Amino acid sequence: MSDEQSRVFTLEELRKYNGHNDTTPLILLGFNGKVYDVSTSPQFYGPGKSYNVFAGRDCTKALAVNTLKEDALPGPNDSPVDTSEFTDAEKLAMNNWEQRLSVKYPVVGVLGAPVMGTLE
Ligand code: HEM
Repeated sequence: MSDEQSRVFTLEELRKYNGHNDTTPLILLGFNGKVYDVSTSPQFYGPGKSYNVFAGRDCTKALAVNTLKEDALPGPNDSPVDTSEFTDAEKLAMNNWEQRLSVKYPVVGVLGAPVMGTLE
């Protein structure tokens, strides 16, 4: 694993890579424990585009159940999506998405749980 691929992003850190940030043009997408760089598809994930809701988010559950709804997307202080309780249909959909994303986009990191003990 390269250094880049071993970079750990909490969901809070991932948020800044949503295409709306003046300090970075990167658009990242969290999925099944990995972080994909989807910057080459601003037509999907860029500001104002259909799938911008997924930019900077862990979209594992949303893709598995085929929804754009916010309630399928964990918040910044949540842990990454736990897929162990996914139904067979959700696992199948997840695997199909994983296949699609992994042939198209580089993995630049992994998703990590929020670091404890840093709250004021
Ligand atoms: C009326 C419903 C929908 C239609 C007609 C539709 C259609 C499309 C089309 C035509 C593409 C582009 C495919 C390509 O050029 O590679 C696309 C991409 C995509 N769709 Fe949908 N879509 C719909 C609903 C949804 C929903 C509900 C989700 C939520 C999971 C979703 C997630 C995505 C994602 C993530 C991509 C981009 C994938 C990538 O990065 O290659 N779509 N959709």
